[in-house]
Amino acid sequence: MTTNETARAGTAPGEQGQADAGAGVRSILVVGSGAMGRQIGMAAAVAGYTTTVRDVDATAVAAAERDMRSWLDGRVAKGRMDQDAADAAWERIAFTTDLEPAITTADLVIEAATEKLDVKRAIFAELDRLAPKHAILATNSSTYGSSAVADATGRPDKVCNMHFFNPALVMKAVEVVRQERTSEDTVQAVAAVARAMGKVPVMLHQEVPGFVANRLMGALRDEALDLYAKGVASFEDIDEAARNALGHPMGPFELMDLVGLDVSYLIRQATYELTGDEAEKPHPLLEEKYRAGEYGRKTGQGWYRYDR
Ligand code: CAA
Repeated sequence: MTTNETARAGTAPGEQGQADAGAGVRSILVVGSGAMGRQIGMAAAVAGYTTTVRDVDATAVAAAERDMRSWLDGRVAKGRMDQDAADAAWERIAFTTDLEPAITTADLVIEAATEKLDVKRAIFAELDRLAPKHAILATNSSTYGSSAVADATGRPDKVCNMHFFNPALVMKAVEVVRQERTSEDTVQAVAAVARAMGKVPVMLHQEVPGFVANRLMGALRDEALDLYAKGVASFEDIDEAARNALGHPMGPFELMDLVGLDVSYLIRQATYELTGDEAEKPHPLLEEKYRAGEYGRKTGQGWYRYDR
């Protein structure tokens, strides 16, 4: 079932039985209200979880709240969700700059803040201090395995990656990645929450830079950038090939624009710094776009131009 179908059916996780509900998870706190955080929060609320989306930046919180209200209205207008389900989801979600009181009742925290390790470590230390002892602390990071933040907490067995894909309300996969000290209960609970959200968990038994999906995407993206750099084809035609020969919903250049050329560049740069592997170095064309501030849809200019 999709998240919306879950909502239409009116099945709150608690009503599906504990196993499906993610080992008693009822209350979710999402830290970060950017493109990912807000949609992860909305997916959780639609699935029946009491949800709070928290960001330090009041403007970002307000923008996230407006965006998610308009997403819900759009679902109703399109006939994808009935009004009662939309109202119930809206009732379950709060957008705030305050960590408390939501943190004190959270069963699962999903951190979706900026991809800066020092910031994440500070967040995890604070979450650990304030969250109930049983709470799972997950990171949506695709750059850092949770081992990079687990030791900032006193509960490394309850720390893992729960990695969503953009747009998180649409993409079905969620990578659940354990580090050495993550317990089996933790990964199973997180996978159960993902399922309750209508997602398909992809279980990784060990940390590897980029996890699975971004490694696959990175290989395609590198080849696309190489072909374009060599003048073999225009980037538009390379996108056509991915869509029309391989059946991908988007070509690699369109996808970079969607994800953000800044995000793509920074993930790759961080992976390179972590591994020291020259093959992981961001492609020069990616770096060029990043340096020019052409981040894709969010700035109105990436590989393509967008009306904003
Ligand atoms: N937010 C929420 N919903 C969205 C959306 C968004 N930003 N964009 C599209 N949708 C919804 C639409 O409302 C529509 O829903 P319904 O069919 O239920 O009405 C549905 O998605 C399809 O949208 P469209 O018809 O407008 O357009 P489309 O068919 O071209 O689909 C797409 C858009 C879903 C983005 C599709 O092109 C796609 O799947 N692209 C590939 C996305 C992808 O690969 N994401 C992974 C990126 S990697 C990543 O995220 C990892 C990381 O660590 C950075």
